[in-house]
Amino acid sequence: MDRMPIHSPVELASILAERLRDARERTLQLVAPVSEEDLRRQHDPLMSPILWDLGHIVHFEALWLTHNVEGPIEFTEMPGMYNPLEHPRATRASLPLPSLAALVELGAEVRCEVLETLARADLGSSHPLLAGGFVYHMVLQHEYQHDETILQTLQLKRGEPYHAPRAGSPIGGAGAAANNFRGMVHIDAGEYPIGTSTAADAYDNERPQHHVHLEAFEIDAAPVTNGAFLEFMRDGGYERAELWTRAGWRWLQEAQAHAPKHWDRDSDGTWMTRSMDRIAPVAVDHPVIHVCYHEADAFARWAGKRLPTEYEWEVAASWDPDARMSRAYPWGDDEPTRAHANVDQLSFGTAPIGAYPCNVSPLGCYGMIGDAWEWTSSDFHGYPGFRAFPYAEYSETFFGTDYKVLRGGSWATRPGAIRNTFRNWDFPIRRQIFSGFRCARDA
Ligand SMILES: [Fe+2]
Repeated sequence: MDRMPIHSPVELASILAERLRDARERTLQLVAPVSEEDLRRQHDPLMSPILWDLGHIVHFEALWLTHNVEGPIEFTEMPGMYNPLEHPRATRASLPLPSLAALVELGAEVRCEVLETLARADLGSSHPLLAGGFVYHMVLQHEYQHDETILQTLQLKRGEPYHAPRAGSPIGGAGAAANNFRGMVHIDAGEYPIGTSTAADAYDNERPQHHVHLEAFEIDAAPVTNGAFLEFMRDGGYERAELWTRAGWRWLQEAQAHAPKHWDRDSDGTWMTRSMDRIAPVAVDHPVIHVCYHEADAFARWAGKRLPTEYEWEVAASWDPDARMSRAYPWGDDEPTRAHANVDQLSFGTAPIGAYPCNVSPLGCYGMIGDAWEWTSSDFHGYPGFRAFPYAEYSETFFGTDYKVLRGGSWATRPGAIRNTFRNWDFPIRRQIFSGFRCARDA
């Protein structure tokens, strides 16, 4: 079952206006420590110049919340410089991008118009863009998701490391709590609900809710830790071809990887890892992060396990066997805060397993939301009855066997852009994303 709308249209409009304000405030907070030169620079061929992300955020908002919201809907994403399909990432540094000040001003002008339109929008209507504030949630999530992309760029930043505006560290010293999440959780065979048909903020790829049959399986009670990953490394995990798929082995030969991205040995051989401007010894009780699908898959084979399917993952995160229904989040239906899980960016890193005592699903899985996205074995495809809405370029364009689904969000994910049904996807070779995993096996 899904959350039911609990706000009147007028209340909803004021909540959305406040969220739009908060979204922009956060975006600007993240880029405030970065020089104009570094905002314009392409720090990695995988990433856009940050000014492009900022311009794209503003143009996307203008397209959907001033133009399309009052119709007619233009399904082409947007004309010109900020169209991601016309301008692949690697070419974006050569675009005549405006200054940060010009983009901030443009963003404020667009926002004035957006708020006027919002004031006259009928969020109680059955209009598919307006019902429950759908299109506003979509634009908010777009900005949240680009914030996470910007953080990937900042982690890859050339020159001086990004001076992260940390607001409180991840909660430390999980201690004994971690012991509660060793081992695996058994999940019975059965028919389980997947996805949603009613959550107002859900993307088209999360819809419609449908039932799937799962055989009994076991899934790790916690994400794979750095400590476990170090054991894999010490046991020759990166040298043993039999642990890797053919595609994985090919990636490994090309990438010459021998540890997760952003790990380095210091002079006495200790593995160190860097998050933005903070370098620390690899913490054995934290989830591993910055591994690609192939590394996750090889680890699982080494451990005598496999990666979960995205359906198994979702059931483990959401199914409440007593209530016989699924939850929006592991702990219930309350939207994540930094008290629930390590989300919302400002921790700038992972937390020890067990650090968030309420981040446990009814079936007993810890940390399914926050810290690190979790790779699944599933290709990205549409659910039965999928209908692209409101534009094909969000999801449908990416369906197929090229991408693997990730679930659960990371420390760099804003709370409004994660829930048990949320599906992220990326190429199996990518590890600049904040990605880890947990394992599963047939019961
Ligand atoms: Fe975008």
